Amino acid sequence: MVAHRLALAASVLAICTVLIRATNPGFVARITVKGLDYARQEGIAVLQKELAKLKLPDFSGSFKVKLLGKVHYTFYSLNIRSFQLPSSQIAPIPNVGLKVSIANAFAQLTGKWRVKKRFVRDSGSFDLKVEGLSISIGLKLGSDTSGRPTVTTSECGTHISNVRVHISGRFGWLYNLFHKKIESSFRRTMEGKVCGAVTSSVTTKLQPYLQTVPVTAKIDKVAGIDYSLVAPPAVTAQSLDVYLKGEFFSLAHHSAIPFPPPALALPEDHDRMVYCGASSYFFNTAGFVYHTAGALLFEITDAMIPKEFKFHLNTSTFSAFIPQLEKIYPDKLMKLRIKTSSAPFLTITPGNLSLMPVVDIQAYVILPNSSLVPVFLLSVTSSVSAKIMVTSARIGGTLELGRLQLSLKHSDVGPFSVQLLQALMNFYGSSILIPRINARLKEGFPLPLPARVQLSNLVIQPRQNFLLFGADVRYV
Ligand SMILES: *[C@@H]1O[C@H](CO)[C@@H](O)[C@H](O)[C@H]1NC(C)=O
Ligand SMILES: *[C@@H]1O[C@H](CO)[C@@H](O)[C@H](O)[C@H]1NC(C)=O
Ligand SMILES: *[C@@H]1O[C@H](CO)[C@@H](O)[C@H](O)[C@H]1NC(C)=O
Repeated sequence: MVAHRLALAASVLAICTVLIRATNPGFVARITVKGLDYARQEGIAVLQKELAKLKLPDFSGSFKVKLLGKVHYTFYSLNIRSFQLPSSQIAPIPNVGLKVSIANAFAQLTGKWRVKKRFVRDSGSFDLKVEGLSISIGLKLGSDTSGRPTVTTSECGTHISNVRVHISGRFGWLYNLFHKKIESSFRRTMEGKVCGAVTSSVTTKLQPYLQTVPVTAKIDKVAGIDYSLVAPPAVTAQSLDVYLKGEFFSLAHHSAIPFPPPALALPEDHDRMVYCGASSYFFNTAGFVYHTAGALLFEITDAMIPKEFKFHLNTSTFSAFIPQLEKIYPDKLMKLRIKTSSAPFLTITPGNLSLMPVVDIQAYVILPNSSLVPVFLLSVTSSVSAKIMVTSARIGGTLELGRLQLSLKHSDVGPFSVQLLQALMNFYGSSILIPRINARLKEGFPLPLPARVQLSNLVIQPRQNFLLFGADVRYV
C-alpha cells in the first residue's frame, strides 16, 4: 500500500517535472534593483513632463461674508508653471509588482480669479504653490496573448501636505476670508488629477514602450526568433525576471523543435542592471532551424582561395593524395560542397562552449562545359570551440575549428587513403570556410531589447546549459 502510494507520488512528481520543463524559457532577462532604479529615473523624467502638462479645471463656489452676504468666486485659466519630482524610489514587491513612491514633489501654478457680489466686483491673478506632494504608484506586470509584456497601474494614491495661494488685487483682504476653502478645494482637485495623469502615462507611454520589445524578430530569409513571454514577469525582492521563449523558427514552416529547453538557474549577481541567460536551447534551435532549412550549406571554389596559397582547388593538388583523380581528369578545377548531416548542437558548460558538428563534404571535378562530376564524398567531424560576443544590441559569435576526423563515405574514383587528405581539408576548413562562417556569425542576432536601449559594460560567462551575460543599460 505504502509502496503503491510512493510510486503514485513519484509518477505525479515526474509528470509535474515534465510540465515545468515544458515551460522552461530559452532566454531569461533579469532586471536587478540597479536596473529598476535606472528605469525609475527615466520613467520619472517622463512623468514629470506629463504632470507639467496637466490641465486643471476652473473652479468656483460661494462663501458667506458678514454684512455682505453670499459672494461668488471663480478661479480660472489655471496654468502649471513647473512640476518637480525631486525624490522617488522604486521597490519590487515579491509576487505583486513594482511600487514607485514619490515624495516632496512640488508645483507652481498661476491663474486668474474674480469675485462678484452686487457692488463688489474684483478680479486679478494668483500664484499657487503645491508642496509636499507624495504619490504612491503600484505597477502590475503581465503578458498579453501574443506574449508581449504589459503593465497596468494597480493602485495610485496622492497626498498634498500644503497648498498656498497668493492673491493679488485690491480685495486681498477678501481672499483671506476664504483661502482655506480655496486651498482645500484645490488640493482635492489636484490629488485626483495627479493619479489620472499617472494612470494615463502608464497606459499611453510605458505600456507602448514595453511593447517595443521585438517578440518576433525576423533575422533573414530563413529564420526568425520568438522572444514572446512564456509567463508574466516574476517579481522577487531582488529582481524582475522575464521569461522568454527564446526559440528560433523557420519562416517557411513553423515546425516543433524536437528537444526540450533545459532548466536555467541564474546566479544572484547584482552588479549590473540586467543579467540575461541565453539557454543552449536558444542556440540549438538556431542550429536546428538553419540545418532543417538546408541553409547550412557552403561551397568552396578555387576562386575563394587566395592566389598566394599553394593548395589550389584542382585535380593536380589532389594528385599527391588521389593519384588516379588527375589521370582521369587532368588539369581540372574542383569544387567542395559542405553540408551539415545533422543539426549542430552547442554544449555549454561552465567556462566552455563547444560543438561537434558532423558534415558531408562532396568533392566535384568541374568539366570545361561547367558541369560537375561527383568524385568522392567524405564525412567529417571536428570539435569546434565557440566564443559568444554580445554587443550593444546583438548577440553573435565566432568558431574555432579543432582537428578534423575524416571518413570516406563514397568514392567514384576508386579507393584512396582519407588520412592523407587530413591536412588539406584542415586548411580548407580553417582558412577558407570558418572565416566565412564567422563573418556571418559576427553580425549576430538581435537581442530582445525595447527601443533605444543599448547595453554596455558587458560580462559574459558560460554556465551549465546557458550563457550568462550581465550589462548596464543606456537609454539613448
Ligand atoms: C592547380 O593548383 C596548383 C597549386 O596547387 C597550381 O600550381 C596549378 O597552376 C593549378 N592548376 C590549375 C589548372 O589551376
Ligand atoms: C570544452 O569542451 C570540449 C568538448 O566537450 C572539451 O573537449 C574541452 O576539453 C573542454 N574545455 C575546457 C576548458 O573545459
Ligand atoms: C559536359 O561535358 C560532358 C563530357 O564532355 C558531357 O558528358 C555532358 O553531357 C556535358 N554537359 C552539358 C550540360 O553539356
